[in-house]
Amino acid sequence: MSITDQIQKVRSEFRTDLANLSSENEAVDQIRIKYLGRKGLVATLFVEMGRVDTDERPKMGKILNELKSEITLEIDGFSTADLKLTDTDASDVDFTLPGDPIPVGSIHPLTQVMEEIKSIFLKLGFSLVYGPEIDTEFYNFEALNIPKHHPARDMQDTFYISDEVLLRTHTSDTQIHFMENNTPPVRIIAPGRVYRNEDVSVRSYCLFHQIEGLYVDKTVTFAELKGTLDYFARELFGKDVKTRFRPSYFPFTEPSAEMDVSCIFCKGKGCSICKKTGWLEILGCGMVDPEVYKSVKYDPDKWTGYAFGLGIERIAMLKYGVQDIRLFYSGDIRFLRQF
Ligand code: PHE
Repeated sequence: MSITDQIQKVRSEFRTDLANLSSENEAVDQIRIKYLGRKGLVATLFVEMGRVDTDERPKMGKILNELKSEITLEIDGFSTADLKLTDTDASDVDFTLPGDPIPVGSIHPLTQVMEEIKSIFLKLGFSLVYGPEIDTEFYNFEALNIPKHHPARDMQDTFYISDEVLLRTHTSDTQIHFMENNTPPVRIIAPGRVYRNEDVSVRSYCLFHQIEGLYVDKTVTFAELKGTLDYFARELFGKDVKTRFRPSYFPFTEPSAEMDVSCIFCKGKGCSICKKTGWLEILGCGMVDPEVYKSVKYDPDKWTGYAFGLGIERIAMLKYGVQDIRLFYSGDIRFLRQF
């Protein structure tokens, strides 16, 4: 068979193959290999060229090159997009079907409450600081006037990494870290995780979140503490909410108090959530004990201040009516989806 006939034969075979081409990419690739591959039909024709008379060769070479670019063009034209479009009969597509939903995440309820509380205090001129979750006994207890065998340690049992190193039980450790490195006036809030070795139940978990507040200056009074926390409560729960301060005890504040807000569910009338008292306990607070100033080398005769600490979970549970604290850490999408 003459080379012209062979070229013609390859061309018509390619035409037939092209006409029978199915939609699969694989089929396109097979044709590409069959014709344009290293050992493909076109390559074989180029080898055949060697046997053509020298004066005929340029002419034949031209024809063969034309065939090659013709095949290349055709195959390249078969892009996958074209295949998909031509392959799908438009009547098969129901454009009224709903699209695939893209799941949208949301901010965790604890983070939402934390952010809200932070923004209230930042507005009042407090600055944000962070302390370590792994801390020493000194910062978590001793410097806060809780010596080794003090009964107050019983209420805050925790997880020890070594004899001296533990997971902090409250954010009050950050008071000490900050005062050690800064001189008054000090006006900070310190949010973060804290840990306690407690039985896990609907009300308590081995991990929770607190936000600490500390204000130290020359003439800070208990009235300022009350005024600030009262403002905070109204910002958080609404302007009709009332507050009351009950005497309490913390080794690092003197005097100490616990602040209640009027029950946000029954407006103080008494219901099952406030156990018929009309009040909900929100936080602990007090004037910084002079012993604490001594541990950070502040002159107790020169400086006065107040501190407070509140649990984020407790507020989130009240705000959103969450009955079981463990839900916050379960990662259950059915729970989280509601916020
Ligand atoms: N650290 C205390 C607690 O965890 C709360 C508190 C902070 C009380 C600051 C008074 C002042 O219970």
